[in-house]
Amino acid sequence: MWGGRFAGSLAPFFEQFQKSLPQDHVLAFADLRTNRAWSQALAKVGVFTAAELAAVHRAIDDLDAEWRRTGIPASDPAEDVHSLVERELVARCGELGKRIHTGRSRNDQVATDLRLYLRERISTLATGITRLCSELVVQADRHHDAPIPGYTHLQRAQPITIGHWALAHCEALGRDRDRLLAAGQRMDVCPLGSGALAGTVLGVDRDALALDLGFAGGPSHNSLDATAQRDHLCELAFVCAMVQTHLSRLAEDTIFFATQEARFLSFGDEVSTGSSLMPQKRNPDAMELVRGKCSRSHGALLALLGSLKGLPLAYNRDLQTDKETLFPTLAETEACLSVAALAIQHATFDTRHCAAEAERGYLNATDLADLLVAAGVPFRDAHGIVGQAVNRAVELGVELQELPAAEQQRLLPQLRVDLRQALAAHTVLARRAVVGGTAPDRVRTEVTRWQQRLAAWNGTHR
Ligand code: ARG
Repeated sequence: MWGGRFAGSLAPFFEQFQKSLPQDHVLAFADLRTNRAWSQALAKVGVFTAAELAAVHRAIDDLDAEWRRTGIPASDPAEDVHSLVERELVARCGELGKRIHTGRSRNDQVATDLRLYLRERISTLATGITRLCSELVVQADRHHDAPIPGYTHLQRAQPITIGHWALAHCEALGRDRDRLLAAGQRMDVCPLGSGALAGTVLGVDRDALALDLGFAGGPSHNSLDATAQRDHLCELAFVCAMVQTHLSRLAEDTIFFATQEARFLSFGDEVSTGSSLMPQKRNPDAMELVRGKCSRSHGALLALLGSLKGLPLAYNRDLQTDKETLFPTLAETEACLSVAALAIQHATFDTRHCAAEAERGYLNATDLADLLVAAGVPFRDAHGIVGQAVNRAVELGVELQELPAAEQQRLLPQLRVDLRQALAAHTVLARRAVVGGTAPDRVRTEVTRWQQRLAAWNGTHR
């Protein structure tokens, strides 16, 4: 491909070392598409006659059909996917194949292939997010009014509904999906025609090329930038890192919920494993693996950023490493989304136990203070009074709503209410009907909103 100036050949070990086909062969179909559009553009400026163009396109179509049948030869001796495709085209249409690299560089070619390929991967990732959110919304719908203890500092704080918890994870993933699609939009410009670094010759119509390849943002506007920058890959790596971080928090929540200490949910056999030694064990390995793999996505983001730091414009071979960093993290994020969706699908909440636990541990102390406030006590004083009431209840080994009448009379003389009624979890929940609150009615509304959102997502990205 570039042997003219060289008398000898690459040292065998370096020859292997510098290959990118093991990573970039997945770009093959994108590369064929790029070749199709480029040869068309070349025909318009007289490099191919109409008949020659038809022959080139036939060769491209043949190769496309062959590889769809046989798979892409990832272990071919070719250096990278672009040289593999060129060699195969020359084998199929000879002289014409040798003309196809006119005015083009692998630098604008790989930049174009990547954007075409990542378009598909963005769509797959978006679908993965939609699937997981759908499972969470199923749980939220089922348990929109089911009480469960809510935590801060991993200490029991206030009751919430299981539905509210599930939708909280949806909100985070929804933002990730927005980020993903925004990154997709930003990268929707066509680098082809940028040449190696300075732009191409021959008066190639780059607007037509961009249109042909389906780039909504038209052609890129600076050939140095188009061939040398990879910030769009960093953005995708960030989205993966953020998705994985959110999955890891979802995993941690559910792993805790599945402990014998919490017993809020159990995972089905589909996503649980046993111990080779301890016959009684039932481990939440699916979510543990999701939690564990998260840090690798952080590593990928740092590796990509690091590979760009201090890199002079324009193309440097360092950029070839972008694929071996980004592609595995895309694949792992897709896999983790699928496993998390499976785990949520096969998670069964013990709603009786969750509800009983939501009545224990003084989760309603804030509401008792609110009752005092309603009776005219300033909040700061109410806070102190309830703190003492909690101390007394702890001494007696009861909950606030179980304080004997005499104790209520002594500690909370301002209150003439039935504490059992006023401090029951369902009362506490219903009081939080504010927008964004955990009240069952509010969660019901949010479930509906999410169902509509998912329907829209399913319409746009399948
Ligand atoms: N395999 C290379 C990459 O992915 C192709 C780019 C061109 N190579 C070059 N020596 N200019 O970055």
